[in-house]
Amino acid sequence: MPLVSVWLVRAALLHLAGGFVIGALLLADRGVPFAPGVWALRALHTEMLLVGWMMQLVMGVAIWIFPRFALRQAPQRSAVTAWLVLILLNAGVVLVGAGAPVAGRLLEAAAAGSFAVHLWRRVAPSGLSAM
Ligand code: HEM
Repeated sequence: MPLVSVWLVRAALLHLAGGFVIGALLLADRGVPFAPGVWALRALHTEMLLVGWMMQLVMGVAIWIFPRFALRQAPQRSAVTAWLVLILLNAGVVLVGAGAPVAGRLLEAAAAGSFAVHLWRRVAPSGLSAM
């Protein structure tokens, strides 16, 4: 597994744990109100679990398992676009959770664009299925 995928999957797991803890706090407060301020974390809960966990896990595993023949032709660019996914996506989740949804979503969109650029040339027909 490439190092960038290791960090994408690790970051995804951190978002899973953090998102569940926040969800549990929200749920507890819904049952027995004890900390109304916790509802300020609802956007962070959503963003961590939908983008930080689910999307990041998918991207990390895809960058790991898709065919690598295209990487030999542009190794530098491929590394840059893959690491940009990690940086932009996590910065985007943090910004959305911190109450800056427009800036955060722009970073998340840039992460998606970088992911598409990275993977595009790795999705190509080969072998018998190429005919
Ligand atoms: C992959 C797992 C999960 C996903 C994708 C997810 C997603 C969401 C989303 C989209 C919302 C709505 C946010 C909004 O309306 O702004 C939400 C709310 C909430 N979630 Fe989760 N969630 C997950 C897991 C959990 C878990 C494990 C818990 C509890 C232990 C939890 C507790 C809550 C609570 C209490 C709310 C607020 C509901 C309300 O507004 O009354 N979630 N979640």
